[in-house]
Amino acid sequence: MAELLRVERLRAGYGEAVVIDGVSLGLGAGETLALLGRNGTGKTTLINTLAGATRQHGGSIMLNGAALHTLAPHQRAAAGIGWVPQERNIFKSLTVHENLSAVARPGKWTPEGVYRMFPRLAERRGNLGNQLSGGEQQMLAVGRALVLNPQLLLLDEPLEGLAPILVEELLRAIRRITREERLAAIIVEQHPQAILAISDRAVVLDHGTVVHAGTARQLRDAPELLERLLGVSR
Ligand SMILES: Nc1ncnc2c1ncn2[C@@H]1O[C@H](COP(=O)(O)OP(=O)(O)OP(=O)(O)O)[C@@H](O)[C@H]1O
Ligand SMILES: [Mg+2]
Repeated sequence: MAELLRVERLRAGYGEAVVIDGVSLGLGAGETLALLGRNGTGKTTLINTLAGATRQHGGSIMLNGAALHTLAPHQRAAAGIGWVPQERNIFKSLTVHENLSAVARPGKWTPEGVYRMFPRLAERRGNLGNQLSGGEQQMLAVGRALVLNPQLLLLDEPLEGLAPILVEELLRAIRRITREERLAAIIVEQHPQAILAISDRAVVLDHGTVVHAGTARQLRDAPELLERLLGVSR
């Protein structure tokens, strides 16, 4: 499988502080990576570093063999990074449809395709961003990343704070995007089982370094390892 993403000895943080220290990982085209770790271990910092939103101190990020780490955030979006930050980055004063059409780039994913994936958004296409529920905002944030027609989707805790029924709905959509449409993705999650079930690979961070890397299945089938790494057994 052709390699899509290659991260080598990445060091990054905020100002002089180094949070991510010596992270290396790779991802093949069409693969999904579950990025796990307890609170404050650097998951968001790593995702944000891939998107260009932190201070990088060292190392390299290559997408399809081209350097990403030298590019500004908007250039990374153009190069194929679709980022859904932990704090949902929708425009609150624009409608659902304006949110999608303002950032859409030519390709397979269109606002209409997003509405088919999330019928709730279709019903609310004229509503302003600040008139949406948390779950609808999360769907819109995912939709905004999709209409960029990225090569790599970065989802930072897409299920956080959602009611169980919305968790199911969003998980189904993410599974469709990653498993059926084979869009490569890195998904950060606190509740590992649901994400491990739809991922190919898994990386666990602790104190800004990789403490485990392997297949998602290996981690799913090893509850005691999961417990030791994350303090959870489900
Ligand atoms: N803007 C910031 N400025 C300075 N330090 C920060 C900033 N954001 C995060 N940190 C620090 O970086 C470390 C890693 O934080 P990060 O948000 O990457 O963790 P996380 O694994 O995503 O946690 P969570 O699961 O709670 O989202 C923490 O010690 C945090 O305090
Ligand atoms: Mg985080």
